[in-house]
Amino acid sequence: MKLKVAIASDHGGYNLKEFIKDSFDLNWIDLGTGDDKNSVDYPEFGKAVAETVADGDADFGVAICGTGIGISIACNRNPGIRAALCTNATMARLTREHNDANVLCLGERITGTEAALDIVKTFLETEFEGGRHQRRIDKLSD
Ligand code: RB5
Repeated sequence: MKLKVAIASDHGGYNLKEFIKDSFDLNWIDLGTGDDKNSVDYPEFGKAVAETVADGDADFGVAICGTGIGISIACNRNPGIRAALCTNATMARLTREHNDANVLCLGERITGTEAALDIVKTFLETEFEGGRHQRRIDKLSD
């Protein structure tokens, strides 16, 4: 069964959002934005991805802005979200193994397209290790 993945970006992440959707045959839930011409506000798009994942309507989220920073801050305002800004596949692997991250954040102005594909693939294919890492995650929610 295909993973259900919520994805959104502001104008600064729109082109990478479209490239990622075209590159992976997944059940994408695209929450906008719809072009790179109109300037929009990343907190709205981070909030949309975060709520979709936290509500259980998607297995994972991908949230993109120019740097990945603003939208990761926005996603992490939701207490059900562990959003990780990743700039390489090692970060993507470790944040899944150790942090059980449920939203991947990317910066279109920071990360090239081929690296972004490696990051997304690694993030979606890596399992959480549990054990001592579960205890630490539980403390984030306390
Ligand atoms: C938009 O110009 C830009 O500020 C935004 O995409 C992001 O980089 C913010 O963190």
